[in-house]
Amino acid sequence: MKNIFILTGAGISAESGIATFRAEDGLWEKHKVEDVATPDGFRRNPELVHNFYNERRRQLKTVTPNAAHFALAKLYNNYSQGIVTIVTQNIDDLHERAGATAIHMHGELEKMLCLNCRKSCLWQEDSSIESICTNCEKRGVLRPDIVWFGEMPYFLAEIESCLLKSSLFVAIGTSGLVYPAAGYVQLARAAKIKTLEMNLEKTAASQFFDAGIYGKAGQTVTEWVEEILIK
Ligand code: OAD
Repeated sequence: MKNIFILTGAGISAESGIATFRAEDGLWEKHKVEDVATPDGFRRNPELVHNFYNERRRQLKTVTPNAAHFALAKLYNNYSQGIVTIVTQNIDDLHERAGATAIHMHGELEKMLCLNCRKSCLWQEDSSIESICTNCEKRGVLRPDIVWFGEMPYFLAEIESCLLKSSLFVAIGTSGLVYPAAGYVQLARAAKIKTLEMNLEKTAASQFFDAGIYGKAGQTVTEWVEEILIK
């Protein structure tokens, strides 16, 4: 078995038209993280937070997966030498729309979490402080089902277990600055798993990878997948 573990970040969705977080025109230049991506920010001003994610959810309906998403879906569905696991930090659904299944460690834009019954529900429209939970039917208890700063990402045990059963770790379109995902390259190295970084450009984490392929994901990931599937 030669399992492949793929970690994706905002860069894989950039060519679909979704802004990354840390670019000069990125989301965190225009919005304060502490206002829209922390539990405290939500307590202080839930309307602002609902509106921030409403805007993202509306935008999601206007974009489509790009060549990199389709290439990974092709690998996911056709790789015969082992299992391909795709873990994404992204809250969009572009891996799924391209035909792959991804583990969303930072939550999903089209889900809301109920602070009353703790259940997650599918949510494709705008949400507000008046929204009603589809499970417990209580009003005003929903928040975006997104992992905010200071919160524990989802599926960590499952993710680490898949990573440690892999022979190749690939990080695509992530700046490698947000933990725990940023630490996976070190975990892979410690377990003698080969590591590959694919990014538009070198990152602060590049030095930790065995190899790097730099350029736009649409092209680099497509070419890399073709090579893997030919082998
Ligand atoms: P970042 O915005 O930090 O990094 C995006 C990376 O994508 C950068 O390293 C870019 O060089 C690269 N990139 C941009 N365009 C690309 C392209 N066309 N092809 C390939 N690479 C490209 O986004 P993430 O690393 O995903 O968390 O950020 C990690 C987490 O920080 C996010 O999940 C989010 C954020 O705060 C939460 O909201 C909890």
